[in-house]
Amino acid sequence: MANPIRPVVTVTRRLPAAVEEALAERFECRFNAADTPLGAVGLRQALAESDAVLCTVSDDIDAAVLGTEPVRARLLANFGVGYGHIDLAAARALGVAVTNTPGVLTDDTADLAIALMLMAARGLGSGERELRSGAWTGWRPMHHLGTRLSGKTLGIVGMGRIGRAVARRAVHGFGMRLVYCSRTPLPEGEAAALDAVPLELDAVFSQADVVSLHVPSTGATRHLVDRRRLALMPRHGILVNTARGDVVDEAALVEALARGVIAAAGLDVYEREPSVSPGLLALDNVVLLPHLGSATVESRTAMGMRAMENLVAWSEGRALPDQVA
Ligand code: 8YV
Repeated sequence: MANPIRPVVTVTRRLPAAVEEALAERFECRFNAADTPLGAVGLRQALAESDAVLCTVSDDIDAAVLGTEPVRARLLANFGVGYGHIDLAAARALGVAVTNTPGVLTDDTADLAIALMLMAARGLGSGERELRSGAWTGWRPMHHLGTRLSGKTLGIVGMGRIGRAVARRAVHGFGMRLVYCSRTPLPEGEAAALDAVPLELDAVFSQADVVSLHVPSTGATRHLVDRRRLALMPRHGILVNTARGDVVDEAALVEALARGVIAAAGLDVYEREPSVSPGLLALDNVVLLPHLGSATVESRTAMGMRAMENLVAWSEGRALPDQVA
């Protein structure tokens, strides 16, 4: 029987069983058994009927959703570090707090960025497609030649936790040289250990062999990678995006890849997820993953537990550990 004292929490998507069980012990949970996005109507209902909502990147919680009365919810506990899908100003105006889950998905997301770099540099997606299609005729010296990462220059845009984890892997694991552009400078010790060279944003694009994006989605970062910046990259350049799709002008990227302005790209995120530009799907020099950055049992469980820590703190009237609004 429902316990009226326990806060009602809508959990917008299915989560690892351990997380759902822990949540159900503490809260009156409304789980989404169908695991399909709630959409604007479902989100409005969740905001009107629950005390808190545990949401994800698949929930577009914009001003229109937040602007529909009544709103009973007092907390949006986002499952994920990025919260560009939530209108923070609208939430603040309503007195709805927002939290995220930083730190717990750093290593897995950094690993995926490195995987995309390797896949794009060595053409591993198209190699696998060739084999599966039955077109592989056997080994030969000139078959499917890629390019090596070792010794190349990596340009990191955004040196937050994930950018730095990618930098460590690239420098210490692959012997890459490092240039970067970041709002917050690298701590001195870390910059020295990575032999990292800070540059203006445009210079990162013109000097790096591989550019990896690690900035959040904000109005200011929208289409940060546009036709002009792509044209600054060398023709052998590779772009990797594990951050957010709208940081890249997807139409400009299709054009750059198709015309050989840059050599290849590795993408985990898209401007209009889950839809992907047909132009990208038609190209062989781009690796396309379905937003898998943090998709490990370990990260997803830790993300759920971290969201729960915020919910528990909120329900106990304590300071929110990961408050972003
Ligand atoms: C998550 C992510 O899977 O945490 C983030 O910001 O991009 C992903 O790793 C997603 O956001 C879950 O909501």
